[in-house]
Amino acid sequence: MIHIRSASLLDSERIREIHLSAFPAAEREAVAALAVNLLAEQTIPETLAFVAAADAEVVGHIAFSPVSCSGTDKFPGYLLAPLAVQPRFQKQRIGARLVEAGLRHLAGLDVALVFVYGDPQYYGRFGFETGVASEYVPPYPLQYAFGWQAKRLTDVNTLHAAGKLTCVSSLRNPRLW
Ligand SMILES: CC(C)(COP(=O)(O)OP(=O)(O)OC[C@H]1O[C@@H](n2cnc3c(N)ncnc32)[C@H](O)[C@@H]1OP(=O)(O)O)[C@@H](O)C(=O)NCCC(=O)NCCS
Repeated sequence: MIHIRSASLLDSERIREIHLSAFPAAEREAVAALAVNLLAEQTIPETLAFVAAADAEVVGHIAFSPVSCSGTDKFPGYLLAPLAVQPRFQKQRIGARLVEAGLRHLAGLDVALVFVYGDPQYYGRFGFETGVASEYVPPYPLQYAFGWQAKRLTDVNTLHAAGKLTCVSSLRNPRLW
């Protein structure tokens, strides 16, 4: 039975292991460090993380951190990153449940937009679209521009806040983009 709950610093080591096991060798160290570092981010609005627990064992993790428009205090929304499920537990909708739980939580906070940099084949199923993201320039040049997507959670018109985005300090590493 899978249960989704908020992550805490006590989950750090397990979260690190999940990302190390799920991501390819070239990315795993940087993504695992990001996942752990985000747990300690002190931001307003707050950086969020959720884990999926199968009985007592944590088997999946997702984080959402706020992005702002560079040079302003405008806050268009959150960035989803990173997401991973322990390989042995993949293809059981645990990833989907983490994404859906996070989006529900953010919608409850009246967050307007959620950005993601990832495979459109995966994130498209949750309603992420490249068109919605195109008004916003990611914080760093992207290796795969087609992966830059966003999902609108409210009808609030946020276009006045379009422009280049600034991310939280854990994500200020060009190798992650
Ligand atoms: C992506 C990931 C989190 C999905 O977790 P999961 O619990 O297996 O997800 P779900 O069970 O909800 O969905 C599984 C589906 O996603 C597909 N999928 C997984 N990774 C995908 C990718 N990169 N691109 C497209 N589809 C992908 C699977 O093939 C499967 O397809 P199916 O439903 O047609 O069988 C997991 O595969 C993972 O940890 N991958 C390594 C880390 C990673 O790539 N994270 C995302 C970075 S953007």
